[in-house]
Amino acid sequence: MASFRIRQYQEQDYEAVRALFARGMLEHAPAAFRHVLRASRVRLALLAVFVAARAAAGSWVLGLGAVALALVLLWLLVRSACAEYVRDALGTDLCDVAGAYLRSPECRFWVAEEGGAVVGMVAVEPAGGGELELRRMSVGREHRGHGLAQALCREVLAFARARGYSAVVLSTSVVQVAAQRLYEGVGFRRVGASYPLLLCTLLNFQVLRYRHDLGDGAK
Ligand SMILES: CC(C)(COP(=O)(O)OP(=O)(O)OC[C@H]1O[C@@H](n2cnc3c(N)ncnc32)[C@H](O)[C@@H]1OP(=O)(O)O)[C@@H](O)C(=O)NCCC(=O)NCCS
Repeated sequence: MASFRIRQYQEQDYEAVRALFARGMLEHAPAAFRHVLRASRVRLALLAVFVAARAAAGSWVLGLGAVALALVLLWLLVRSACAEYVRDALGTDLCDVAGAYLRSPECRFWVAEEGGAVVGMVAVEPAGGGELELRRMSVGREHRGHGLAQALCREVLAFARARGYSAVVLSTSVVQVAAQRLYEGVGFRRVGASYPLLLCTLLNFQVLRYRHDLGDGAK
């Protein structure tokens, strides 16, 4: 039975939350790579590489070698896109957590603590239009499946209701299946999907938007 407690972020948590966030995001790189490989235009491109290399070199082995090289380059591209996302977060709000989330009463940053260690995190900030955005949800691998993320979501929803927000919104990605189930399980519904970058369109990598309406509250 997990015995965690949820509390506000403190400056001593700085390194722990940055590491937790980075690990949680980078672990999706293999799933993102597998997802990209399922895209028909990517498969066609790999086939084209094979046919072109085989025709140019006159050898099946070199054709397959070219495909292997293309796969390695694709993996590096996906891996570096994940790393870039993490770098961006660590260089913006997670560079100055207190400044980003503790200065305004409309923002919050919670951590889940177990045995004195930070094992989960989530943040919120106003998204405009009376909506609150849930951000930076992550739970350490070895602490998953014990309801920590659900408890963090409940904290967010209670905060949003208490402050009169009309909805909580968030974004996740098509490969973050555990997160999608988590959010749907606590009442979020999918309201949209988009390709924020040309690269995402090419690789069929969708960003999903979720929303949890809170009823009468309006802010
Ligand atoms: C998504 C994440 C936060 C879930 O944390 P968690 O503490 O394990 O989640 P909980 O134990 O509270 O589980 C809540 C629900 O999430 C879903 N869920 C959790 N892990 C799952 C998995 N591996 N596969 C499918 N659904 C899963 C289930 O619906 C679960 O409800 P149930 O136990 O009643 O079936 C965690 O896996 C994580 O940190 N992942 C990496 C970072 C990430 O993707 N963050 C989301 C950013 S948008």
